[in-house]
Amino acid sequence: MKYLQMENLSLAGKRVMIRADLNVPVHEGKVTSDARIRAALPGMRRALDQGAAVILLSHLGRPKEGVFSEEDSLAPVAERLQELLGEPVRLERDWLEGISIQPGEVVLCENVRFNVGEGKNDPQLAGKLAELCDVFVMDAFGTAHRAQASTEGVIRQARLACAGPLLHGELDALRKSLLEPERPLLAIVGGSKVSTKLEVLDSLLDKVDSLIVGGGIANTFIAASGFEVGKSLFEQDLLSEAQRMIRKAHDQGGSIPIPQDVVVASEFSASAEARVRKVGEVRPDEMILDIGPLTAIQYSEIIAGAGSIIWNGPVGVFEFPAFQAGTRSVAEAIGRSSAFSIAGGGDTLAAIDQFGVSDEISYISTGGGAFLEFVEGKTLPAVAALVARAS
Ligand code: 3PG
Ligand code: MG
Repeated sequence: MKYLQMENLSLAGKRVMIRADLNVPVHEGKVTSDARIRAALPGMRRALDQGAAVILLSHLGRPKEGVFSEEDSLAPVAERLQELLGEPVRLERDWLEGISIQPGEVVLCENVRFNVGEGKNDPQLAGKLAELCDVFVMDAFGTAHRAQASTEGVIRQARLACAGPLLHGELDALRKSLLEPERPLLAIVGGSKVSTKLEVLDSLLDKVDSLIVGGGIANTFIAASGFEVGKSLFEQDLLSEAQRMIRKAHDQGGSIPIPQDVVVASEFSASAEARVRKVGEVRPDEMILDIGPLTAIQYSEIIAGAGSIIWNGPVGVFEFPAFQAGTRSVAEAIGRSSAFSIAGGGDTLAAIDQFGVSDEISYISTGGGAFLEFVEGKTLPAVAALVARAS
């Protein structure tokens, strides 16, 4: 995969527009996790160090196009970015028709999704973005799976378009873990629904030696194995798909292990009483909210034996202390392992933070959807556009 890289360009005195993914959680006007902002700093610093005028683009949330909303303003991001960058960051509300900026300055343009045509990748809007810069740097790995004006369209029209260090680093790490993995390769995929991750599960089965499923996805597999799941979140209409995947794993010499025990409660609440049940002994009025202690040991052993690990999604409701033990034990087992481990997705990153294992994970991706689409083997549209520009 060949594309132009930021590190090979000279940026002095140029207007360098960097599309970053600064779509971070914000609560009451404050950024609550700045991991994505920190990950985007190297590209910004490189442009500044070289004496460029730095124009930053990002989206936040999913606002309605054509209307400004305080709730989706990048103001809290600008504040945090300024602290982290140690340079003044000017947030521009109206920037599409022109930006006044000098080399050495940093302008953060207000949420690109306020622009009409962003979501539909309107070529006219993309052309306007392209006009604002000499060099366009795509560095938003987390949004590289969206073909939108600020991620894909602008690449096709910019005078010069290249990949930033974060995007390149992510692609490199993911390729390394997926294309030439140390075996056995283990994937751990949690989350609420099989349906949203069906394709990724199916394509992972062709690549991995073991697949551990967690959360609501695991409940569907537990039910597909003939066990009672009570009031648990699961997908009745995907039972036969789950059965097919269990067979497929088996036929390929791998496995999708089913939990031996689970932690249940009568309601979905932080204060609900947690009870451990053997799988198969869940009562009709109970719901599964975590894996049980025996399963945690079983999974830790699988993790310890893995050569490479891909992790997306918690195995339980780790936001509730009574149901966090399973995800904690998975996180800690990955941390202890000497395998090349790669993790991505918002909940996964929150769990990694919460359980203090971030230094023990080989590579933490800033992508959620983009991470999964890459794992599925899909071409990310923004990357495809960069490759097309380079050939
Ligand atoms: C993400 O958080 O996964 C990315 O920033 C993309 O956001 P989106 O799903 O709203 O396009
Ligand atoms: Mg490790």
